[in-house]
Amino acid sequence: MASQKKMFYKGVILNPKTDTKCDYFPQGLLVVKEGKIKDLLPIEKGLKKYSSQMTKTNTKDFGHSLILPGFFDMHFHWVQDEVREMPKDSLLEWLEKYTFPTEMKFANKKYAKDKAKKFFKKLASAGTIGGACYSSIHEVALDAAMSEVKGDFVIGNVLMNMYSPEKLTQTEDDSLALTKKLIKKYGKRHCFTPRFAITTTPKVMKKGSQMADKANCFKQTHLSETPAEIDFVLSIYRKIPGFEKVSNYTEIYQKTGMLGKRSLMGHGIHLSSNELKVLKKTKTSIIHCPTSNAPIKDKGLGSGLFDFKKVEKAKITWALGSDIGGGPFLSMFDVMRSFVDQNKKKNITDATYVMALYRSTLAGAKILGLGKSAGNFEKEKDANFIVVPMKKNMTGRNPEEILQKIIGQYKLKRSLYDHLVSMTYFKGLAIFK
Ligand code: GUN
Ligand code: FE
Repeated sequence: MASQKKMFYKGVILNPKTDTKCDYFPQGLLVVKEGKIKDLLPIEKGLKKYSSQMTKTNTKDFGHSLILPGFFDMHFHWVQDEVREMPKDSLLEWLEKYTFPTEMKFANKKYAKDKAKKFFKKLASAGTIGGACYSSIHEVALDAAMSEVKGDFVIGNVLMNMYSPEKLTQTEDDSLALTKKLIKKYGKRHCFTPRFAITTTPKVMKKGSQMADKANCFKQTHLSETPAEIDFVLSIYRKIPGFEKVSNYTEIYQKTGMLGKRSLMGHGIHLSSNELKVLKKTKTSIIHCPTSNAPIKDKGLGSGLFDFKKVEKAKITWALGSDIGGGPFLSMFDVMRSFVDQNKKKNITDATYVMALYRSTLAGAKILGLGKSAGNFEKEKDANFIVVPMKKNMTGRNPEEILQKIIGQYKLKRSLYDHLVSMTYFKGLAIFK
């Protein structure tokens, strides 16, 4: 990395702290040196303190643009870029009809490399600088993703050994050998990724999970996304020796060692209070993907509304994800919009934009163990930030109003959310401009 001198960035600055607290600087100064945040203060104080050091070359005035921490997208499938805006269906049909045929193409090394170059460029341009990502079953696709991705990501090849199309079915031995190899190759950047209990045998989940735990790797999968999926999972497992008596979906992951403090469960919409207790006890996180769960008419899979209040009450950690291509757009702005709107429609008013921003930044960083080095603008954290141009009339008395104006503007033209960001910085360097 290039050595970096001290830089000064001026603009409208938001610094998310918690679900209900976000610092707001109508005009603020962000000081960055060697890729780290050195200071954040209102412009008057900033000028008093630093004007003697500020020059034309080390100062960037973003004027009326908004400066925010870069996003963490905690659940997305980079190999589903092509299907995200295609017709949707309920989960299991959508996987069969659109998703599996698309993922098969990633067996080709050149195809995978070309796609990865394009996708991860787009991801940086949408302002996402960290998160947890699913790849296809193929080693070449994972290699391509690992070499093209920019930011703090864990990525895993999905493991599929049963109830999968022939071209996407691996033997248990292949899955486990590949897991061993990829953990060795990528260390903690590798994420152990059984696709879900339907496609991955207990043996692979159990043995792979042990390898991942030994290497302190993260683990991710899908849990309780739709009622049809849950019925199918239970009907399969109740015929597998040792699982005959499982009373719910979560128990399957518990029995195979999939739960724990480095485990990310995608969706978790339809969970009983007993299951929530198990997730809490094992310190497992849930990743909520509102645009994917939204009704089919809104380009989602119609999986249902995640009850974040119930999950909060159960003291389970959670963060937001796009679930590309279950969700149609890369931008976490669209995910934030969906979270707020869907809850509002059910008269759940404490689902605010401030909460959505926290859950799209610091909450994700914390889950990935990066709470001390990323996720917001605390001093000495990595300088990961995005710049979002705002129209002159987009003023606000508080962070909620500002976010509402920025996000409210494209509710009817959602694909534009992917183009709201004008610059993305990771560790002080522009990875998109
Ligand atoms: N469950 C298993 N695989 C998938 C997938 O690719 N997307 C979503 N949304 N759910 C899944
Ligand atoms: Fe998913």
